[in-house]
Amino acid sequence: MQDVYTLCELAGPLTIDERVELENMLSRECVSSLPALFTLAAIRGELRESRLECTCILRNKHDQILTVIALIYAPYGNFIEINTRSLGKRCLDILNIIVKIVRNLTLNYEVNTIFVDNARIVDMLVQELPLDRYCVLIPLVLDLEDHSNEEIDLGKEIINHDSYRIDILDESYHQQVQFLMSMWSQFHVKVSLYTLKHGIPLGAFHREKLVGYLSTYVTLPECWLLASLFVHPDHRRRGIGSKLLHSMIKLANGKTKRLVAAVDLLNIDARRFYLRHRFKPIYRAQHSLTLRPPF
Ligand SMILES: CC(C)(COP(=O)(O)OP(=O)(O)OC[C@H]1O[C@@H](n2cnc3c(N)ncnc32)[C@H](O)[C@@H]1OP(=O)(O)O)[C@@H](O)C(=O)NCCC(=O)NCCS
Repeated sequence: MQDVYTLCELAGPLTIDERVELENMLSRECVSSLPALFTLAAIRGELRESRLECTCILRNKHDQILTVIALIYAPYGNFIEINTRSLGKRCLDILNIIVKIVRNLTLNYEVNTIFVDNARIVDMLVQELPLDRYCVLIPLVLDLEDHSNEEIDLGKEIINHDSYRIDILDESYHQQVQFLMSMWSQFHVKVSLYTLKHGIPLGAFHREKLVGYLSTYVTLPECWLLASLFVHPDHRRRGIGSKLLHSMIKLANGKTKRLVAAVDLLNIDARRFYLRHRFKPIYRAQHSLTLRPPF
């Protein structure tokens, strides 16, 4: 292996030069790549209560970055982000190095989830690691600059305008959010309580009862990653989800360039919902490998 080497494996903090180089690279890719988005947010200290524990940067002989592997400590478990670029003709050798490094990380750290932007790495990892769950995520992106001058009619789809209202939430809504999201899953309860604390959380109310929720997970000038969109089953198909999303678009306008929603490939309703709202799919699937239940 002469034309590829590991610059820093399980190393300490990034040097200033590495940080600048990585920020440049990841900020170009963060819209279409979830690992790039999370790694960039962690490098900038924008992932609250989380920290970048170590990074591994693989370069080719021209000193260009081929792959960045980041281990992030988060309040609900550690996760690994694997960012790959065009891997060239020695691809199999590089894939083997990546898999070896990731396997070592999972042995030495309590890793819950691995996010990967490359299907070949997934194929190799699933042979190596015991998986609890695996899913393919599709990033759907709304370019706000394309829509900044458009008038959005917030109430258009609501059956009865007076019976629902949208508000920005704060931590005093902890119990209501917990109760609503427990109708979805315990995983989403945890994520929504995190986003209630650290994101920009919006709630839909019906007679003072919380019946819908949408927040942000990561808010960067390049893009905001949306999280935890959920509407109480009894209140669906009345435009509540649309109203939450339109309210978020209004808040985001001028503060970021794009909104990104990471939607499970199998979640047909959610994909149709976002596509109907002019989000565009990025045809570079992302993969989420869960090694142990995160909570
Ligand atoms: C996805 C979700 C949030 C949508 O919420 P919602 O409040 O039902 O959304 P809306 O009412 O705005 O739109 C849903 C549908 O109702 C239709 N609709 C809206 N107002 C309507 C009305 N007054 N009468 C009849 N239909 C209406 C919309 O056209 C839309 O149709 P489509 O499915 O063909 O696109 C909801 O289904 C949900 O909570 N799903 C489970 C959680 C989930 O998967 N979240 C996404 C994770 S990425």
